[in-house]
Amino acid sequence: AVIDYSSPNVAKSFGVGHLRSTIIGQALYNIYRFRGWKVVGINHLGDWGTQYGKLIYQIQKEGADPRKLSVRELEELYVRFHEEAENDPSLEEEGRKWFAKLEKGDEEARSIWKACKEKSLEEFESIYEELGVSIDHEIGESFYEDRLSAVIEEVKRAGIVKESEGALIVEFEDMPPAMLLKSDGSTTYLTRDLAAVRYRLFEFSPDLMIYEVGADQTLHLRQLFSIARRMNWKEDVEFFHVAHGMFRLPAGKFSTRKGRTIHLREVLEEAEARAMRIMEDVQELSPEEKRESARIIGIGAVKYNDLKRHYKRDVVFDWDQMVNLKGDSGPYLQYTCVRCRSILEKGKDHSAELEGGLNEEERAVARELVRFKETVEAAERSFSPNIIAEYAYRLAREYNLLYEKHPILGDNKRMAITESVLVILSGCLSLLGISLPRKM
Ligand code: ARG
Repeated sequence: AVIDYSSPNVAKSFGVGHLRSTIIGQALYNIYRFRGWKVVGINHLGDWGTQYGKLIYQIQKEGADPRKLSVRELEELYVRFHEEAENDPSLEEEGRKWFAKLEKGDEEARSIWKACKEKSLEEFESIYEELGVSIDHEIGESFYEDRLSAVIEEVKRAGIVKESEGALIVEFEDMPPAMLLKSDGSTTYLTRDLAAVRYRLFEFSPDLMIYEVGADQTLHLRQLFSIARRMNWKEDVEFFHVAHGMFRLPAGKFSTRKGRTIHLREVLEEAEARAMRIMEDVQELSPEEKRESARIIGIGAVKYNDLKRHYKRDVVFDWDQMVNLKGDSGPYLQYTCVRCRSILEKGKDHSAELEGGLNEEERAVARELVRFKETVEAAERSFSPNIIAEYAYRLAREYNLLYEKHPILGDNKRMAITESVLVILSGCLSLLGISLPRKM
């Protein structure tokens, strides 16, 4: 299976939109791998296209040095371009011209573009590190640059394209037409995606290609899959778009154009600050260790908040609910694992054995424990990590009910149950990409 996920854009901040793709994509990666698939993760970095022409134009106009700019400043330049273009539509043409130059290998355009890309990669890397995510391959859109004309030739030979007002388009029965070449000869996002499909099919020979991309790109991906199927590069390959919903705040959908991006850094900082409050009363930890735990809890809270809902649904930040030791939250699940671990630690001289019958609460836990395998299979089949998240929550809840009603320490059977709960629950969290703090 090839999974295309995260895929942020150069010269734009890593927004919470790409966060969804990263979190869900990584969970799918873990799940497929756990189920025995050979999985290839690809970061389809947005590092090519007309928008870089616009950016280069603006950098030139303002006499800025991209090597000295932060990603946020690069993003601001892009926002300014759009503000100015609103009053002066001819700027769009300038942007197109610069992108054409970039495509033709103009040295000045190239070096500005390269500097922007390096800056962005540095920032993205630090975010992946913080999230504990590592994507197998970073193969950005620009990688396909010298493969584009061959793909265009192929689709022409296959007779599935048509010229229309100087552009090269593909028509569909049930969708609006899609463009593979603009009238000025520039390629499009779709052209590069098509080259990427071809490359991946020949390079990795997958049976399944998963795209973890926002629902707003549904049409684009349907068109892509349809063209790829018509090209028939490989038989028996399934395409699937995991079309996630949006992050929503009162201001509406996030958009860089209008400069209303919510920055991921701010989200993680807020999560960690709130997690720090949970850590305040924990004894036996140095301030350093508390901060480290707060980091793990904060990130776990953000990830779980995202994964507990079906990917199609929108995500809202309800901080109080998200970073909470009670209820359906990441910290609650982490806390349950830490609790199990500390019980097992305290009772390590006792044996853990299943003996005798089970009381009601024990049976409720056992009933969940044996559902692990079918749960992971269901998550795999339907590309839905939320099935695992919901299962983990039910298991944790049943275990905590048992814990509240009956003493665990010293009871061999309940110790055995505790051990199994820890194995399964931490297994679920690890599939979801959520780590455990040492203490909380
Ligand atoms: N860079 C794109 C964006 O931010 C997402 C790319 C998704 N993957 C793909 N193969 N088109 O909108």
